[in-house]
Amino acid sequence: MNILVQKNYDDLSKKCAELIKAQIAAKSDSVLGLATGSTPLGTYKELIRMNHAGELDFSRAIAFNLDEYFPIKKSSDQSYHYYMRENLFKHVNFAQTFIPDGEAPDAAKECAAYDEKIAAQGGIDLQILGIGNNGHIGFNEPDDKFTSATNHTLLDESTIKANARFFASESEVPRHSLTMGIGTIFRAKKIILLASGAGKADAIFKATRGPITPQMPASVLQLHPDVTIIADEDAAKLIQ
Ligand code: F6R
Repeated sequence: MNILVQKNYDDLSKKCAELIKAQIAAKSDSVLGLATGSTPLGTYKELIRMNHAGELDFSRAIAFNLDEYFPIKKSSDQSYHYYMRENLFKHVNFAQTFIPDGEAPDAAKECAAYDEKIAAQGGIDLQILGIGNNGHIGFNEPDDKFTSATNHTLLDESTIKANARFFASESEVPRHSLTMGIGTIFRAKKIILLASGAGKADAIFKATRGPITPQMPASVLQLHPDVTIIADEDAAKLIQ
């Protein structure tokens, strides 16, 4: 694991955007795996700036998002479809973008089809991840086993509480999601995990220094050959 500690959130965002730019420079038709949540917002702003400045062209690149609430309408402003459209996709020029469909009539079919679409594009070249306070990646919550494929999953109570900030009330947070599995994530050729703020320090400590266990889903990344963790000083405070 390569751990890059940055002074603050701004530096973390710039570093991640630089690494994405380098990936596209090396392979213009890269398949990127993208995350939602608060942490990647600064990275997406910087990618938009680079794109508008003519420094970064996504026209041959493809994006697959990690997850989506289930069920949720794409038009809902809490959906990850809405988040990605507003925070990145409408501002830049990806060739194609994919997000699990929170309106799918059959969740299991949608999950299987999502993995097939990723495989049809040759797999993910670079996956961007955030990390939950409980160590989740995507919406793979602490469990007795690591999930392999994209799956229909129940959100943890702690995730519902953490994500309630995006909804009018906690009771409005959908209880389920469709998420790339740990196996789907693990098959990415390169992975960058972002962590910002003291609230993530414990998860970063356990994910990088603790035992590899499905109770701390991000700990599986210790086994991956090409993982970069970009953490700000607050999130890295227990591992420095
Ligand atoms: C988002 C996702 C989640 C978040 C995690 C951290 O697509 O899959 O795993 O990355 O919950 O969220 P923030 O960045 O809001 O702290």
